[in-house]
Amino acid sequence: MQYEVVLPAAGSGKRMGAGQNKLFLLLNEKPILIHTLEVFQHDEKCTGIWLAVKPEEREYIQGLLDRYRITKVKGLPTGGQERQHSVHSCIKEMKQVEIVLVHDAARPFITKPIIARLAEAAHEKGAAIAGVKAKDTMKKVSEGVIVETVDRESLWMIQTPQAFRFDLLQQAEDVAEKIGFLGTDEAMLVERLGHQVHIVESTYENVKMTTKEDLIFGEAILSKRCQ
Ligand code: CTP
Ligand code: MG
Repeated sequence: MQYEVVLPAAGSGKRMGAGQNKLFLLLNEKPILIHTLEVFQHDEKCTGIWLAVKPEEREYIQGLLDRYRITKVKGLPTGGQERQHSVHSCIKEMKQVEIVLVHDAARPFITKPIIARLAEAAHEKGAAIAGVKAKDTMKKVSEGVIVETVDRESLWMIQTPQAFRFDLLQQAEDVAEKIGFLGTDEAMLVERLGHQVHIVESTYENVKMTTKEDLIFGEAILSKRCQ
């Protein structure tokens, strides 16, 4: 199933504490952003990439795209204050496509088989997101005290990509903007419309580069893949 992808890249990487957008940090001598872009550049089912960027970083990012021969980028819209705003600014500039994926630019280890399963599931069912089963015992805590142990079987840790029929995500984003609802992922906006969102089991390798130790995991994943 063909798709276009939205990559929000307009964050500031505060938790990484690198003093710059974390997406410019290098893993194996290549920026995190390029690792992520190359997955979609090399996926023949991906027909276009939309990258939400900060205005002051647009020129630098354009230089990276040229240098690493990333040719599928159709637009670099200006991102917003929150990730949701950045995604929405891309959706607003996109022409009608059938399937759209939203994927954090900070998750460079996503693989083509998972992308393909998500795009197929979104085509069949409207909305599908990547996730992995919780590994640890999960408890609800209030003011430092356990309230309950939550049944782990029903708990999933949600990642991106999140895949949707384009008109469904567009409607969900428009409604959220209108009523001032801010979600932590795209699925929340679609759930609010009463639409079912399906899960596609992903892998624990699809980590988001968020804090310094994630870079160590990232280097380890890359060296394992190179063996
Ligand atoms: N993002 C974005 N626009 C924002 C905030 C985040 O496009 N206003 C992007 C980031 O660039 C990243 C993805 O959304 O690719 C996931 O966000 P996160 O991991 O939280 O990155 P940052 O917001 O940059 O990091 P932090 O929250 O630590 O500041
Ligand atoms: Mg953030």
